[in-house]
Amino acid sequence: MKKIVQMQEKRKAIQAGGGEKAIEKQHASGKLTARERIGMLLDPGSFVEVDTFVEHRCTNFGMEKKKSPGEGVVTGYGTIDSRLVYVFAQDFTVLGGSLGEMHAKKIQKVQNLALKTGAPIIGINDSGGARVQEGVDALSGYGGIFYNNVMASGVVPQISVILGPCAGGAVYSPALTDFIFMVDQVSKMFITGPSVIKTVTGEDIHQETLGGAYTHNTVSGVAHYMDSSEEECFAHVRSLLRFLPQNNLDPAPREADEEDKNRIDAALNQIVPAEANKAYDMKDVIYSLADHGIFDEYMPLYAQNIITGFLHLGGKSTGVIANQPKFAGGSLDIDASDKAARFIRTCDAYNIPLLTLEDVPGFLPGSEQEYGGIIRHGAKMLFAYCEATVPKVTVILRKAFGGSYLAMCSRDMGADFVYAWPSAQLAVMGASGAANIVFSKEIKGAEDPEAKRAEKIREYEDTVANPYVAAARGMVDDVIEPSETRRRLISAFEALETKRERHPAKKHGNIPL
Ligand code: HXC
Repeated sequence: MKKIVQMQEKRKAIQAGGGEKAIEKQHASGKLTARERIGMLLDPGSFVEVDTFVEHRCTNFGMEKKKSPGEGVVTGYGTIDSRLVYVFAQDFTVLGGSLGEMHAKKIQKVQNLALKTGAPIIGINDSGGARVQEGVDALSGYGGIFYNNVMASGVVPQISVILGPCAGGAVYSPALTDFIFMVDQVSKMFITGPSVIKTVTGEDIHQETLGGAYTHNTVSGVAHYMDSSEEECFAHVRSLLRFLPQNNLDPAPREADEEDKNRIDAALNQIVPAEANKAYDMKDVIYSLADHGIFDEYMPLYAQNIITGFLHLGGKSTGVIANQPKFAGGSLDIDASDKAARFIRTCDAYNIPLLTLEDVPGFLPGSEQEYGGIIRHGAKMLFAYCEATVPKVTVILRKAFGGSYLAMCSRDMGADFVYAWPSAQLAVMGASGAANIVFSKEIKGAEDPEAKRAEKIREYEDTVANPYVAAARGMVDDVIEPSETRRRLISAFEALETKRERHPAKKHGNIPL
């Protein structure tokens, strides 16, 4: 009995983390503790801790006298919506959540368990980085975590939640995972902090501007989601999991609560403006197609000329890639290509079918794009689409011009079904540009050049820039009424449910990075 009481007391002391004062400091800085965070993330009462009694064994700089309850990280498993997940949460109240040898071993253990059992792993990062006193042992700890991140990549979904500092090489573990969540004003990620930058380059920059949630969601594209509070962030992680399978051998999840598969939306018949240069909001189309109008957008603040994210179609989790005519006319640039390519590969890795909604005028022209390597970045999209073996369905709403037509999952990129709305124009370029090239002599020599130009534009549209030429060649499978798109998509994805496609045997492809 005494031994049981001893065990209970020992456990209680460890569960108190860095103690009252440190917890008060954590709360005062607007952050929750590691255990509070796990409690908020998982189904109530489902968390089972492992490695509670692990301790560091460092003796440098008087460390043998320093206790580190739980070794600065809480690890274990639990459930989200009754599905198994593994989890670790760094405890900033213990030695600043710094990562030493044994801290790393705890994280590596749950990584290995997640991989062996085929369950997602969620890491909550809040740490001063490598434990300075432990030197190379700490670095080796990170190395082991990175290695496990890479081994698990494409096998089990890995989600990183940044809820405090994440600095130095430590940022590379989240960067190797599938999804990075940040919370405004709470999360920070950088390779070197403001003081090192000041010393090396003389630049004055604030932590938040350098590596806050807004920066990484809008400028760098390092993070995929920004939430406004920890509570909102955990709810978001839980809802994201509804779209992801447990592992790469499971099919994409299907929701039991399906909405009417035959629902039609007459508003879609009016959504594409008659004028080629007029914008509309592609998100209205996405919300209309989705079950219950629910769309979980991926990287919503980055490269907004392309929209990526998850929805359920007839209950089945589906990834959407769509041009957004509201931003840069929906053209493809470097950032949009990177964002789309990454999302396509994420979906393909986890068996999530791909829906492409196309209204693209072209790759963005200009020296800035060329010098930045649009050729290399755009090629990632081509690579990702061609490589993806999940069911792929494309709907061409309006423009589908030139190389960007191919890049948006054309038939030749391996689309299984391609549908076009009657407003679709598939061509090398827009009708007005094409008319200027093909009929330049006739237009210049005409009595009324403007009237001639209008006539030739119409002629080009009638001859080439419509869906029927492509449909006549089988590059488009059907021209459909916009209002019926949801019904047609659900039917197409059901017909593709058992799709099997194999690539030639190889070690791995060489995606242009
Ligand atoms: C050991 C650390 C620590 C670290 C923080 N602590 N970081 N101990 N190693 N890396 C300890 C502090 O000494 C302090 O202990 C407690 O944690 C809380 O830290 P504070 O500084 O009081 O907190 P705060 O004011 O909120 O500042 C947080 C911070 C700061 C900005 C993170 O602690 C900091 O700058 N830490 C060092 C960051 C860093 O340079 N890390 C190395 C990055 S390079 P006491 O006992 O006083 O409570 C790296 C390489 C990885 O990580 C390479 C992987 C390949």
